[in-house]
Amino acid sequence: MSREKIIVIDFGGQYNQLVARRVRECNVYCEIYSYKTELEKIREINPKGIILTGGPNSCYEEGAAACDCSLFEMGIPVLGLCYGAQLMMHVLGGHVCKAPVREYGRIEVAVDSSSPLFGNVEENTICWMSHNDYIEQAAPGFEIIAHTSDCPVAAVQWKERQLYGIQFHPEVLHTIEGTKMLSNFVYQVCGCAGDWKMDAFVENTINSIRKTVGNGKVLCALSGGVDSSVAAVMLSKAVGDQLTCVFVDHGLLRKNEGDEVEEVFGPNGPYDLHFIRVNAQERFYRKLKGIEEPEQKRKIIGEEFIRVFEEEAKKIGAVDFLVQGTIYPDVVESGLGGESAVIKSHHNVGGLPDFVDFKEILEPLRDLFKDEVRRAGLELGIPHKLVYRQPFPGPGLGIRIVGEVTAEKVRMVQEADAIYREEIARAGLDKSIGQYFAALTNMRSVGVMGDERTYDYAVALRAVSTVDFMTAEVAQIPWEVLGRVANRIVNEVQNVSRVLYDVTGKPPATIEFE
Ligand code: XMP
Repeated sequence: MSREKIIVIDFGGQYNQLVARRVRECNVYCEIYSYKTELEKIREINPKGIILTGGPNSCYEEGAAACDCSLFEMGIPVLGLCYGAQLMMHVLGGHVCKAPVREYGRIEVAVDSSSPLFGNVEENTICWMSHNDYIEQAAPGFEIIAHTSDCPVAAVQWKERQLYGIQFHPEVLHTIEGTKMLSNFVYQVCGCAGDWKMDAFVENTINSIRKTVGNGKVLCALSGGVDSSVAAVMLSKAVGDQLTCVFVDHGLLRKNEGDEVEEVFGPNGPYDLHFIRVNAQERFYRKLKGIEEPEQKRKIIGEEFIRVFEEEAKKIGAVDFLVQGTIYPDVVESGLGGESAVIKSHHNVGGLPDFVDFKEILEPLRDLFKDEVRRAGLELGIPHKLVYRQPFPGPGLGIRIVGEVTAEKVRMVQEADAIYREEIARAGLDKSIGQYFAALTNMRSVGVMGDERTYDYAVALRAVSTVDFMTAEVAQIPWEVLGRVANRIVNEVQNVSRVLYDVTGKPPATIEFE
């Protein structure tokens, strides 16, 4: 399907995915490519516009990420942001050097609102700056269209050649009119029409899946998480009963979660799909017996999941296609898109290797950011509650029980977690906290209950606010809510006599315990 496209050329800055998301919020499709991408490839992509991102280097230093000056001669509009703007100036004959005053934070910028980039933008507007270098002198042909008290060249344009550069970051929400500026670039400068709409995406994807699959059989590993649920419903709309969804209950799900997934996707739910629930709890507990080391536990759970799934696939037989819930950040983070380093290889029940002889892997959400997956889910009529679930890791409670996993420990953490979630929702905090859960520590301690000495387990509560799950801050839950949760846990969960609250951010701690 051909659609208009803006490309982001990634120079390794921290906000690169954000740039692409902001452009998509303007209803224009946007993809990220490494700065090493050949010009020939860019020509082939034929974008309506190019955005050069920020980056950690100084463009005048040897070995810094660079680009070919022909990039600016292709007749395609270019917008450089921060490093991208400096690089454009450097390559085209301007002068970039270390700034006498480093600008960082919210800074007032005076802009020339007659520039197409700043149409409808206030003449003095607050923008997010973060730079050590600055453009001392714009390249020949360019005019200055913004400045601050410490930065004489905060934005430049060469209108006839459709080249623009800005020193600040319009993609960051602290730049109050940043989205307007990006929208001006894609609509006023690049002439986009705005054809990236979720309803059209859903409809087009369904049609294209139908064509690809023909009469073939499709298998989907369904975890009940957002990505695999959206992928399954999309596939079901596309190919109906040629699809089978396999849901493996590994006994490490939250309380009642297996039944909840079955309620939505099983025979009594709103979707008419072949749904197989495999109750493999005992099998997983057997494999995990005596194992304490976190990585080993993760590996065992991942491997066993695949074995169960493989057995089910063989029972169904002659399956041509496997569905995976890969989403765009997975593609970028695995190094296939931009410049970001490979972050962490998680076991994701959607992310299976092609261990059975499938003809093809279908990844209907490969182009979407998480918030777009959620919008696609709503478009497909998936309940709001399911679409906005908080993330739950593939290895499940297996990595929220420190040390050896047993059925008894799973029961303790399930019950404690259910109480915690119930009280957080009752206090109206469930929508504002990024992720929260109970974990079972390996610590037992002395207590007293009804005049008797106890020697029982300690539960740890965790709650974090996070935007991207790569870093996180501790969420500050009111004491009275924590007190209520602790009280209920020690009273209602057998063999737990102590409740701790984790006040560590990430880094240094990770969100999960193992
Ligand atoms: P960490 O513990 O790495 O977690 O700070 C960051 C986010 O990732 C989730 N997580 C996982 N998700 N498979 C997943 O699908 C995994 O193995 C896994 N480990 C952690 C975690 O819940 C948090 O949202």
